[in-house]
Amino acid sequence: MTIPLTDVKAQYAPLLADVRAAMDGVLERGQFILGPEVRAFEEEAARFLEASHAVGVANGTDALVLVLDALGIGPGDEVICPSFTFYATAESIARRGATPVFADIDPGTLNLDPADVAERVTPRTKAILAVHLYGRPAPLDELPDGIPVVEDAAQAFGARLGGKRVGAIGVVGTFSFYPTKNLFGLGDGGLVVSNDPELADRIRLLRFHGSRDKERFDAVGYNSRLDELQAAVLRVFLGHVDEWNEARRSAAARYAELGLGELCELPPDEPGHVYHVYCVRTRERDRVAAALRGQDIGCATYYSTPLHLQPAMSSLAGGSLPETERAAQETLALPLWPAITSAQQEEVVECVRSALALRAAS
Ligand SMILES: Cc1ncc(COP(=O)(O)O)c(C=O)c1O
Repeated sequence: MTIPLTDVKAQYAPLLADVRAAMDGVLERGQFILGPEVRAFEEEAARFLEASHAVGVANGTDALVLVLDALGIGPGDEVICPSFTFYATAESIARRGATPVFADIDPGTLNLDPADVAERVTPRTKAILAVHLYGRPAPLDELPDGIPVVEDAAQAFGARLGGKRVGAIGVVGTFSFYPTKNLFGLGDGGLVVSNDPELADRIRLLRFHGSRDKERFDAVGYNSRLDELQAAVLRVFLGHVDEWNEARRSAAARYAELGLGELCELPPDEPGHVYHVYCVRTRERDRVAAALRGQDIGCATYYSTPLHLQPAMSSLAGGSLPETERAAQETLALPLWPAITSAQQEEVVECVRSALALRAAS
């Protein structure tokens, strides 16, 4: 592809020597599960995220399931979440036998609309699962009081809301280290963060079969551990994530400077946004996407079918979510990664411009 949607290799290429050294260290030690690298990464990530506790797990989906389990959420309970998000958000709720209750989004930010969330609260509501979509902090301080907030921060490592890192602003938060994320591993990985020691301890227990010592089993748990190789690599990348996020923010600003805002609606900037995905809006979304693909330029629709319209969720009551459904028709992710060049961004903007000029002429 001439210009990919994202370029992970370009991100780690300058760090290859450090990555190889970190992996060699693990190979020499010969301990691959729950060893010193995981412990060190948990401490360093907790410090970075300004949280008291961090627990490494196998991936961001498991992180959510473990959290809901630790909060005692199960059959008969409702959890309010967005429908405009990756499937794992609602899947984790359903996996626990609880009911995802979908709330609509604010069309400006594409994050949960707090007023719509408030209307969906019932006596069965046990938590609100707020997603920091595309790296933009969700409006946690505007959500209804008195209901535990779980942050799905899979797309927002390093983002800030009102000066605080997202993740441990709510009761508990989860991250994914899938290889395109702002902080990524070379495979799957995930993290749970919290300021609640008991909750963190419960997650630690659950991630290893409900046992602390492999002899006594106190709970029916999971096998969901971050491994030593991933932790060693994540420790290398953690030292660069702020600089990468700044570079993402600069690239987002550059799209505006290049005049993209005359062609489509740009994501409104805010200081804590870390642009995991750079997503624009236009009614001509499909035309623009076809033009980009025609020029071998990466783009994607996150998410063209919202979760309340997915076959697996169709049995849930709830009705339509007008802003979610409109966003699903109009949003398009454009190429963005920390090292994207001005020339590459100019090419993207020119391609969007000519797609829309052709439309105007026809
Ligand atoms: C919002 C959101 N939640 C959860 C996940 C699940 O993370 P993982 O792929 O590590 O299981 C993702 C990952 O893509 C995500 O974007």
